[in-house]
Amino acid sequence: MDKIVMKGGAELHGEVVVSGAKNAALPILASALLADGTSTFRNVPDLADVATMLKVLRTMGCGAERLTARKKDVCEVGVNGHITPEAPYDLVKTMRASVLVLGPLVARFGRARVSMPGGCAIGARPIDQHLKGLKALGADIHLTEGYVEARAKQLKGGTVNFDVITVTGTENVLMAAVLAKGRTIMENCAREPEIEELARVLNKMGARIEGAGTSVITVEGVEGLKPVEHAILPDRIEAGTLLVAAAISGGNVLVKHAVPEHLDAVMDKLREAGCTLTAEAGGIRCKAPRTLTSVNITTTEHPGFPTDMQAQLMALMCVSQGTSVISENIFENRFMHVPELHRLGADITIQGHTAVVKGVKHLSGAPVMATDLRASASLILAGLRAEGRTDVSRVYHLDRGYERLERKLRALGADIRRVKAKA
Ligand code: EPU
Repeated sequence: MDKIVMKGGAELHGEVVVSGAKNAALPILASALLADGTSTFRNVPDLADVATMLKVLRTMGCGAERLTARKKDVCEVGVNGHITPEAPYDLVKTMRASVLVLGPLVARFGRARVSMPGGCAIGARPIDQHLKGLKALGADIHLTEGYVEARAKQLKGGTVNFDVITVTGTENVLMAAVLAKGRTIMENCAREPEIEELARVLNKMGARIEGAGTSVITVEGVEGLKPVEHAILPDRIEAGTLLVAAAISGGNVLVKHAVPEHLDAVMDKLREAGCTLTAEAGGIRCKAPRTLTSVNITTTEHPGFPTDMQAQLMALMCVSQGTSVISENIFENRFMHVPELHRLGADITIQGHTAVVKGVKHLSGAPVMATDLRASASLILAGLRAEGRTDVSRVYHLDRGYERLERKLRALGADIRRVKAKA
């Protein structure tokens, strides 16, 4: 297994470009199932999770490839109507977001057989709300042998009121509703920019969606959709992670393509911690102060502070002056980076879903282990600041969601490299 080897202490300076958003690319690739023909997506990040989604689509019989050579950010998904509407356990267990094919499959092909995702490292993560939404549109749903089997000759518009705000649940039901007969009203929807982006793509395909990005989405079903060409929006979580990298290293970095409106809550917290954040030249600049100040953080659904930035901000709080209280309200087990941050000398106590972080003057490098995607980013951020050498193992977690993060950080001046596993 590859690992990241780094020496802390360098201030980061310069410019870095954010890649396309993982959590927009995944539903958008799945949405190609809704139309016959070839859809072309640009700015698709080269990530393990994207490769898994392409594999899920190929397993069903779609053409789904990343173009090679000069156009590495381009993926084409071709659908010709003859597909096997099934997502097998082997793939879904490696990536829960594979469940995003459920809505498009049942809407377009009248049936779907998709493995239940099961729990994951950060929480139980049920999909009951996805199923509730599809049932409200008339799908007949059974759970057998670990699979969700959904059938509907023709979905019909209806009212879906989500009991829990769910990102992929909103996306799954939205992708089903676009081909349902009549009007669907979706209430208590997630409002993430990735949902607006999915709706933008679906509308380009011929769907009639209004209200995406607010908690009520209205969909007028249409009879068919056409393939699409689209460039995926920049990844706000990668952008936020790079802003924290600038902050924790005491540097000054322009994060290009970062969209300020997508990062309000993160920018507010970095400002409160003493950083100067400015929107400029198609990106966001973060200039760190000499001493960072502790801030409290509570994760909530968008537009609140994102759970996907909690681990990274916690790394920053480890070296800030004062005490920070960090409450995680989205997932029940998203503090697995804490024991690893302890190994670097952090002072953190967990009480239920709250972590109390007392800032320390120094972190010291050590071997640590990534436990999930954002945890791996948090350990790398801490390693930027720790004295001496930090080795982060299990970086396959990192590769699920960050495109060559170590190269981007090295270009900004960090002493960091990937050590490839021996074959
Ligand atoms: N939930 C339910 N029932 C459901 C669906 C969700 O109880 O049917 C609960 C979950 O257990 C959780 C909460 O609702 O406690 C929110 O989960 P949500 O469904 O919104 O999460 P998700 O759609 O599975 C997406 C992102 C995650 C991100 C969360 C929260 C994708 C592919 N994944 O997951 O991204 O943390 O929203 O913002 O969009 C990551 O990129 O590192 C990542 C984990």
